[in-house]
Amino acid sequence: MVLRIGFLGGTGIEAKGLALRFASAGVPVVLGSRSADRAKQAAADCNDLLGKPSVEGLPCQEMISSCEIIFLTVPYAEAGNAVTAYQANLRSHHVLVDVTVPMQFVHGHAVYLEQSGKSNSEVLSQVLPPGIPLVAAFKTLPAAILANLEIELNCSLLVCSDSAEAKNSVMAAASLIPTLRVLDGGPLSVARTLERMSVLAINLNRRYRQKGARFKIAGI
Ligand SMILES: NC(=O)c1ccc[n+]([C@@H]2O[C@H](COP(=O)([O-])OP(=O)(O)OC[C@H]3O[C@@H](n4cnc5c(N)ncnc54)[C@H](OP(=O)(O)O)[C@@H]3O)[C@@H](O)[C@H]2O)c1
Repeated sequence: MVLRIGFLGGTGIEAKGLALRFASAGVPVVLGSRSADRAKQAAADCNDLLGKPSVEGLPCQEMISSCEIIFLTVPYAEAGNAVTAYQANLRSHHVLVDVTVPMQFVHGHAVYLEQSGKSNSEVLSQVLPPGIPLVAAFKTLPAAILANLEIELNCSLLVCSDSAEAKNSVMAAASLIPTLRVLDGGPLSVARTLERMSVLAINLNRRYRQKGARFKIAGI
C-alpha cells in the first residue's frame, strides 16, 4: 500500500521539492500550511510543474488527518513548536520525518549549531507525544536539486530511526523516487552525523559556486 505523505511547513522550498519528487513517483502528497490559501497556492505551484493535479494543499490539521507519513519541513528552531501546536492531531499510525538542520550563517559560512551533543532530531523526539515514531532523513538533499525534475538525484539517502517499523515505511516510500539509493543509516542518534553532513554540503556549494552538493555512498 502506498502511504499518503504530508508536509508540515509545506509552503517552503524543501517541502515543495520533496513533494515534486514523491508526486512524480506516484505517491499521494499533501502540502500543509497554517494558511489554507498558502497551502493551495503551494500545491498549485507544484501541479503546474508536474503538469497534472497530483498535489493537494490543506491547512495543517487537515493535512495531518489525511496522511500517514508527515514530514517536518519547518525551520529547525520551529520544529518543536510546530509539533506541539499539532500534537492533538497526531495518532499512533503516524510517522514523523524530520528534515531539519540546525545551522546559521556566520560571515558567509554555514555553522552547525551544537545542542549539548544531540541532533535536532533527538531534541525533537523528546517533545513528541508518546508512541509517535520519529525518522531522520532527507537532511542532505538540497531543495534546489529536488525542485528541478530534469536533474536526476543520483545520490544516497540515509534513513535513521529508533523505530524499525517507521524506518521501513519511510525507506519504502523513498525507494519509489528514481535514482535515489536508500540505505538504513541506523538509530536516530546518527542524525548527528547527517545534520553535520548537510552543513558540509552547504559550505561545499558556496566554495565551488554550486547548488547541488549531495552524497553518494560507494561500496554498498
Ligand atoms: N533548503 C534546503 O536545501 C534544505 C535541505 C535539507 C534540509 N532543509 C531543512 O528543511 C527545513 C525547511 O527548509 P525551508 O527553507 O523550506 O524552510 P522555510 O521556507 O523557512 O519554512 C518552511 C515553512 O515552515 C512553515 N512554518 C514556519 N514556522 C512554523 C511553525 N512554527 N509552525 C508550523 N509551520 C511553520 C512556514 O509555512 P506556513 O507559514 O505556510 O505555515 C514556512 O513556509 C529546514 O529545517 C531546513 O533546515 C533544507
